[in-house]
Amino acid sequence: MQMIDDLISRLQANVASGLPDQSEQPMKVPASAYADPDQYRKEIDRVFLQSPIMVALACEVREPGDYVAFDLVGRPLLIVRGQDGVIRTFLNVCRHRGAKVTAATCGTARRFTCPYHSWSYDTEGTLVGLPGRETFGDIDTTGLIGLPTVVRAGAVFSVLDTEADIDIDAWLQGIDTSLADLRLEEFYPYRVPTVIDSPNWKLAADGYLDGYHIGYLHRNTIGTRSITNRNTYDFFGPHVRIGFASKRTADFKPSQGDIDYPQYLSLVHYVFPNVSISGGHGDTLMMSRLLPGRTPETSTTIQFQFYRQPVVDDMVEIAEEKRQTYEAVVRDEDCATIFQIGDALAGMGDRHFVFGRNEPANQLLHRTIAEMTADG
Ligand code: FES
Ligand SMILES: [Fe+2]
Repeated sequence: MQMIDDLISRLQANVASGLPDQSEQPMKVPASAYADPDQYRKEIDRVFLQSPIMVALACEVREPGDYVAFDLVGRPLLIVRGQDGVIRTFLNVCRHRGAKVTAATCGTARRFTCPYHSWSYDTEGTLVGLPGRETFGDIDTTGLIGLPTVVRAGAVFSVLDTEADIDIDAWLQGIDTSLADLRLEEFYPYRVPTVIDSPNWKLAADGYLDGYHIGYLHRNTIGTRSITNRNTYDFFGPHVRIGFASKRTADFKPSQGDIDYPQYLSLVHYVFPNVSISGGHGDTLMMSRLLPGRTPETSTTIQFQFYRQPVVDDMVEIAEEKRQTYEAVVRDEDCATIFQIGDALAGMGDRHFVFGRNEPANQLLHRTIAEMTADG
């Protein structure tokens, strides 16, 4: 893969020079940016409700009737591939009186039947069943509420504002070309999620964008094979691709044969505002989704593993072992640390934190959010 070959040669240069890709200057971020309820409300309204959000990988809804469902900033979402093959995102809200039409987080269905009074909808969202219709009277409801949705590079993007236009090229700014190299549509999900409580969503996002901590916080786990703080960073508008060097990076030689790329680099695509895709340049990837909570102090991290072959038979045990390994790392190392930061915020007053020149992706995150939430 030419993109991967190029990234590895840049990592080799960074390892040789002892420097990661850097921004021009360190950057200060007020501690209050993480905790202020007004700021948080603006992030929900202006970032999460207005932006195209990556809500699924298309391979999660590979066959007609396949669906995934989750709540994002208070909006219950149902992403389903219709019998016509089209992937749509709906509000998981019954048009009768608002109950969820499915309580499951994933599955395959021909109908979604609301548990409250059994109104039912087909996979294209059309209302197809209304028990006691002759008793109900005339209505003008025809189906579930659809959200503007586009599939690009094997990923599904939706805007939570039902009235919004979706200009996906203006939003992705080319990260879809990089994602396309991963052939995301070929993967198969291991449908057991890891669900971990996390503090403010930006504290969690900072962890995914940070190539500086791997060899320290994770020195005894996922950091043992890496060379820390020599990362490549590529920016696509608000989105980022990060390359991580390993102890074998220097050994890499481009060749024609099958290469086990993940030995030579780790790769993260961070799709703003809240999805990290780790890997995908080999046979596995991990998708992490950050879900802001009901208050600035809370969020949830949900992770799914994907494999290039169906997760059946022997693969199940392998996938589960890997899932548990990453769960322990994220919960006991990343989240345990960022909860400390969350607890520290109140005592920081109007002081600031600082992101170094070697943390350019974090700088971009905070700059982007500041711009999107600025008044006037
Ligand atoms: S709320 Fe769904 S059928 Fe009544
Ligand atoms: Fe980490």
